Amino acid sequence: MRSHTTFRQLEIFEAIARLGSFTRASEELYLTQPTVSMQMKKLTEAVGVPLIEQVGKKLHLTPDGQHLAQATREIFSTLDRFAMSVAERKGLKQGQLSLMAITTASYFAPRLLGEFSKLYPGIDVSLRVTNKEQVLASMADGLDDLYFVGQPPEDIDVVATPIMDNPIVVLAAPDHPLAHRKKIPLDRIAAEPWLMREKGSGTRNAIERMFSGHGLNIHPRLELGSNEAIKQAILVGLGISALSRDTLALNQPGQFAELDVEGFPILRHWYAVYPAARQLSVVARAFLEYLLDRAEAAPAAAVGKRSPEAKDVGR
Ligand code: PGA
Repeated sequence: MRSHTTFRQLEIFEAIARLGSFTRASEELYLTQPTVSMQMKKLTEAVGVPLIEQVGKKLHLTPDGQHLAQATREIFSTLDRFAMSVAERKGLKQGQLSLMAITTASYFAPRLLGEFSKLYPGIDVSLRVTNKEQVLASMADGLDDLYFVGQPPEDIDVVATPIMDNPIVVLAAPDHPLAHRKKIPLDRIAAEPWLMREKGSGTRNAIERMFSGHGLNIHPRLELGSNEAIKQAILVGLGISALSRDTLALNQPGQFAELDVEGFPILRHWYAVYPAARQLSVVARAFLEYLLDRAEAAPAAAVGKRSPEAKDVGR
């Protein structure tokens, strides 16, 4: 049958089988009715058994016709998948990826982008680092492809995928009197002079939630709008703070003391988030896949379990 059957004939047969009518098949395929009839006659001759029967005005597929209809559907869907994968790979050669990261995510996001850009050098990537308010506003308007945040928003319907651990650790100057103490009680550490990020910061929220969950309050001695400013203030002995361990990425080991405080580190995660209503571009999907593969390949650094903060975990 193969040497005498053309792709066009199978296409016509599939349309007739699906629409139950020569006329409608010819309209859908922009062919004349005699052409459709002629091609069906040739196909039936090539197969050697009847495929379609006419009962009154209605068309019916014979059992062989039904098998052939099934086979043609499978052929077409395989070809569609092939065409889609070619289009996807073509799409990945060039394209744009627009990302937004909340302040502290700036310590790891450029590294991830660097690795991804090496894999796909034709893709232009832009990363904006900003505060929570602007991240939420952009997310609500669907302006960027993906967002790196420490906590998925609750009032926007999003798909949030945990991509890495984000432990919040208590930091002090290396010569701080508590630097070598074990299991420092929470109420003891609450009495220290604290250096806090600005109100609304995810890090600050996590710390405040932790203390208030134990019936404690901390009184910031200084409020500083960046992780780097806090680190400087710690080093000159103005107080202690708790920050994401990622903020130490470029510091020498031993430059800060990580205090052993009960209840710390606070275990949080970094999430890649996008609005649920948004259809991810081919490029954004490839980037998300890359983040997930990376997380799976480095389980020590990745997050295995789903956090209660996550509203949905996409893949
Ligand atoms: P922040 O957010 O930079 O606003 O503290 C990070 C986080 O939510 O962990």
